[in-house]
Amino acid sequence: MKITVIGAGRVGSSVALNCSMRELGDILLLDIVQGLPQGEAMDINHQLAERGIDCIVQGSNNYQEMKGSEFVVVVAGVGRKPGMTRMDLLKTNAEIVKDICNKIKSYAQNSNIIVVTNPLDPLTYLVIKSLEGQRTKIMGMGGMLDLSRFKDHIRTVTGISRDSIQAMVISEHGENMLPLVRFSSIGGIPLSHFITAEQSENLINKTKKIAAEVISLKGATVYAPGNAVSTMVESILKNKRTILPVSALLEGEYGYNDVCIGVPCVLGSEGIERIIEIKLNEDEMKVLDLGVQSVREAIKTLSI
Ligand code: NAI
Repeated sequence: MKITVIGAGRVGSSVALNCSMRELGDILLLDIVQGLPQGEAMDINHQLAERGIDCIVQGSNNYQEMKGSEFVVVVAGVGRKPGMTRMDLLKTNAEIVKDICNKIKSYAQNSNIIVVTNPLDPLTYLVIKSLEGQRTKIMGMGGMLDLSRFKDHIRTVTGISRDSIQAMVISEHGENMLPLVRFSSIGGIPLSHFITAEQSENLINKTKKIAAEVISLKGATVYAPGNAVSTMVESILKNKRTILPVSALLEGEYGYNDVCIGVPCVLGSEGIERIIEIKLNEDEMKVLDLGVQSVREAIKTLSI
């Protein structure tokens, strides 16, 4: 199994580390900066050597080496600076991602593709359209990371093991994300049993804002996104059919067409094998609608 990670910066190298530590395959780290992917690869291989893991991580500046990749993770681009929203990155990162699509077309057209570069939902759409690819094989990682944060807050508020927490976050990976308290549980018992309405409101707000807080404290989010991508790769590669939030191209689901947004999906060997349509209430639907509008506004500005 060959997994190519395009962009060997903070998140790209974390994706490589997480995928190799889970022994998902050999990894190729690609970047335009000379030396960076090679250095990251060496560092990760040294950790793997000590753990007795035989996945090989390689670094390169040569896109041709991605030939034969079963997975491509697109994580190249600029990140947010404190005070910026993800949408502020649209113009710069759309150009980078378009360029990368041309490379994928040449060398790995049939791979499974996970987009990570922000703003996540419009850029996932851009990749699907640029490659004229199947919506089952090209998807975005955003909700998975929001979910990690939501789960962590649930643990903080309730004091119950992270292992017992089941939750879901959908909609835009951005200002209109939707942590679904109604569809979350601890040990199979609805979350509402453990928290007050006020705590529920706080949980939702904290989940939305926590990425900006991490960025203001340390400049970027790194470990949790790397882990989130590797969870998606693992579910597809091992045909686990896990239900995870994924930015997917909608074709009528939730009443929307031709837009990418976070929804619960079954990930298996066929990629997105099923989009689960849960019955949202009026308030939840309003947030999803704002998310879709926001992504559509961004898509309009992209020349695809
Ligand atoms: P970074 O600045 O540390 O790394 C980005 C890397 O991309 C740099 O090494 C740069 O040289 C490389 N790059 C730029 N153009 C390239 C090209 N054409 N081909 C190959 N490599 C190229 O940034 P970081 O922190 O790793 O973030 C990367 C992206 O991921 C940002 O857009 C960030 O907002 C996004 N992100 C998305 C998350 C999500 O949940 N979807 C979570 C965290 C970050």
